[in-house]
Amino acid sequence: LDKPIKVGIIGMGTVGSGVVKILIENRDHITQQAGVSVDISRIVVKNPEKNRAVDIDPYLLSTDIHELINDPTVPLIVELVGCPNGSSAIAKDWILQALAQNKHVVTANKEVIAKYGTQLLEAAEKSAGGLYYEASVAGGIPIIKTLQESLAGNRIQSIMGIINGTTNYMLTQMTRFNQSFDSVLKEAQRLGYAEADPTSDVEGYDAAYKIAILSSIAFQTKVPVESVHCEGITKITAEDIQNAANLGYVIKLVAIAKRLKDGIQVRVHPTFIPKTHPLASVNDAFNAIFLQGDAVGDLMLYGKGAGMLPTGSAVIADIIDAVRNIRFNCKPRLSVPNKTEHISSINDTVSRFYINTKVVDKPGVLADIATALGEENVSLQSVIQMGIDHNDPVSLVFITHEVKEINLRKALEKVSQLPTVYKIANVIRVEGANINGGTN
Ligand code: NDP
Ligand code: HSE
Repeated sequence: LDKPIKVGIIGMGTVGSGVVKILIENRDHITQQAGVSVDISRIVVKNPEKNRAVDIDPYLLSTDIHELINDPTVPLIVELVGCPNGSSAIAKDWILQALAQNKHVVTANKEVIAKYGTQLLEAAEKSAGGLYYEASVAGGIPIIKTLQESLAGNRIQSIMGIINGTTNYMLTQMTRFNQSFDSVLKEAQRLGYAEADPTSDVEGYDAAYKIAILSSIAFQTKVPVESVHCEGITKITAEDIQNAANLGYVIKLVAIAKRLKDGIQVRVHPTFIPKTHPLASVNDAFNAIFLQGDAVGDLMLYGKGAGMLPTGSAVIADIIDAVRNIRFNCKPRLSVPNKTEHISSINDTVSRFYINTKVVDKPGVLADIATALGEENVSLQSVIQMGIDHNDPVSLVFITHEVKEINLRKALEKVSQLPTVYKIANVIRVEGANINGGTN
């Protein structure tokens, strides 16, 4: 065996602890896989006094990032710090500094990869080291290598998935046990699924970073995060969840990327999924991703999308990959997406919709709403008056046929101005029963 390779780890929170635990407990196996033992050189944290989920020699802990990055005996840096003080630029700069020192860098940081991926990959191309980021999307699911390597010969047509563990856990608990949003969010945080600032999870930003990364690899094009239409789950109420159940659906936060005739479409939003759809049974912190490639056809990957060990699994795979490259003095096969394709506006998307209105309980209201919708070519698949107590206001719930989003918005504007409509409580897209089907 060659002499041990030293790895420096920045961050020992949820993911860092998982990585350290696997490195310690699977040491022999990892040595065999990598062809050389992998030794932890130092672990940089913010507060060395903190209790850690894994027992380690306290002398391994440090607060000096620059000493680690500049240490010539450490060829491999693992960045698991996230965005200190809400700033993604900090970790980005550390990664750039490590690459400039010709080190290999492993990261789980989806925000940094989504925002600065092009810059980082260009720096990695110039470096003798490399950049590895499997853990940045869907935790333990090996989706990035699958796209980059196993499916490299396919033109990917679409990606559709549940790629945020926190919100999937929350929606599952809210659906099964009628728990409140705040209490299930706290539980997701306790379980280590949520980001340091969980706004990123519940507002859909985390899923938007991930689908931006996936679509840029799948379509080999630049996908700026700002171009991803993004809606989170904060407006989903217990009533919507109940309505969905009554209508034969569950609500999931879904990320979608599709190749269109004239560009691509990338979006994240809550979605009514038929109970018979494969995504409907993806619960808790599990993630699932469906792909359509022109050669492979339909492909589905399923696994734990967040948490200490599943994410640690993906990071460790990258560490082993990097160590093999270091041993053989080579670099990972990187590809910097260089195309710039048209990214279509959400207004051009075609979908079915669930519309929950609060209206005056009197004859003619339904006809007024149907007319306003019809004027913008929105036709209705079903209408249900929820509840039979006739308390004012009552809920009238509609499921539309497929309609272009811009038409739906114009129709809703008219509906909201009807004197018999108190408010439009929520509007949620409805997916068809087929994998990747239903919406355009
Ligand atoms: P945590 O908040 O649990 O851990 C962050 C770690 O970084 C802590 O050990 C903290 O130190 C350290 N840290 C924070 N600021 C500094 C600083 N200024 N200098 C040095 N160390 C610092 O985050 P996670 O482990 O959950 O996430 C880490 C990364 O992995 C993020 O990019 C996240 O998006 C990503 N990720 C997370 C997943 C998950 O399931 N949690 C899954 C996939 C990716 P201290 O412990 O002393 O406070
Ligand atoms: N907060 C993220 C999630 C972690 O819940 O999916 C995994 O990327």
